[in-house]
Amino acid sequence: MVINPTKTVNELITALPYIIDIEDGRKIYHSWRVAILSGLCAKGPVGPGELKYIFYAALLHDIGGVGFPIHIIHYLKRNDKISHNILLSHPIVGAQLVSNIPQMNPAAKIILDHHEWINGHGYPRAKFGDSISFGSQVIRIADSIDIFLQTTRTRTLKQLKDKMSPNIDKEYSKDLFHRAFRILEKDRFFYKILPRKNVPLIFKEIHEEIGLLKIPAKIDAVGKTLEFVAQIVDMKHPFTSGHSLRVSRYAMAIALAMSLGHDEVTRIRWAGLLHDIGKLSVSRHILDKPTTLNHEEYQKIQKHAHQTFVIMNMIPSLRDIALIAAAHHERFDGSGYPFSLSKEGIPRSARILALCDAFDAMTSNRPYRKPLTFEEACREIKKMSGTQFDPEIINYALPVFRSSGF
Ligand SMILES: [Fe+2]
Ligand SMILES: [Fe+2]
Ligand SMILES: [Fe+2]
Repeated sequence: MVINPTKTVNELITALPYIIDIEDGRKIYHSWRVAILSGLCAKGPVGPGELKYIFYAALLHDIGGVGFPIHIIHYLKRNDKISHNILLSHPIVGAQLVSNIPQMNPAAKIILDHHEWINGHGYPRAKFGDSISFGSQVIRIADSIDIFLQTTRTRTLKQLKDKMSPNIDKEYSKDLFHRAFRILEKDRFFYKILPRKNVPLIFKEIHEEIGLLKIPAKIDAVGKTLEFVAQIVDMKHPFTSGHSLRVSRYAMAIALAMSLGHDEVTRIRWAGLLHDIGKLSVSRHILDKPTTLNHEEYQKIQKHAHQTFVIMNMIPSLRDIALIAAAHHERFDGSGYPFSLSKEGIPRSARILALCDAFDAMTSNRPYRKPLTFEEACREIKKMSGTQFDPEIINYALPVFRSSGF
């Protein structure tokens, strides 16, 4: 398996905010638009190296808000205490998460300060003036611009300027304000970026111009970045904390116990980390519902497996493992989803993942039931040998589950 770490990590970091910005099926492109505006504002005042970090920080600036009940942009211009309390943690959580991606520490620092105001009234640290890095100041104004566009009826450049000018020398500096508006005015750029449908093409052009963040091949950058993505996926749903990481670890241990080759073990580890990525496009109120789901809601939840397939096909470097990840709800007898595959028609790696996914679900806490013990989970699994699960894989898996702290 030949993998280019620079290309793969860049594809992941670009695709993730796109997926997170899908709200009830609508693509809102908040992070991509903030990245475009930040990239254009910072180009010139900083060199190409720093520009990349500002651009990538802008892409991931709201990643710490994935666990919020609704998309973060809806809290930002509301001046009530609840919104304020909800928002307070997201720059810190985001910075912590992003610092786990190799080479991304400078971007994490920029994210930490992206809600600081130059008058000292921002959060989380109430920093003041130029003690806030240039990159964080740039993201602050770019973020503010997009929030006005997304949450108000602002449709002309004049309306935007009128709405934003009262915050000069409070939220952002006069210099940066004029710099941002010069960019929006030039060649009527504001009217090009206003329709959401234009965002992907503009984003692609700016991204190509700024270039990829170089990732050294000698560190496990892809694995670490996938672990970062897995954490984001698990944050979306509070009852599944650590689920993707555990599924990946169980599956890798089983693959090793089965003496599978190095490439297949890697594919299983990676597919395990991303198997539930489709859940990022399922709405929170269904994922969080503590009571029984109705038929329609259940169907929406089931869609996550197919969504995993769609999303992973958007990441060219990971297309090889899209089916493995997406097939984790297929059943050995063919009655599963999303493709109704059966027996050897289900990739072996996916059969392993299916078992690990079910075992972890059974032994985890849920609001409506207590976790099963190891013995109870084993009994359940054995009952479903040959119907839901591959009997041969069960033989390898039970000792692995037993030795994983049960
Ligand atoms: Fe934010
Ligand atoms: Fe934002
Ligand atoms: Fe899962």
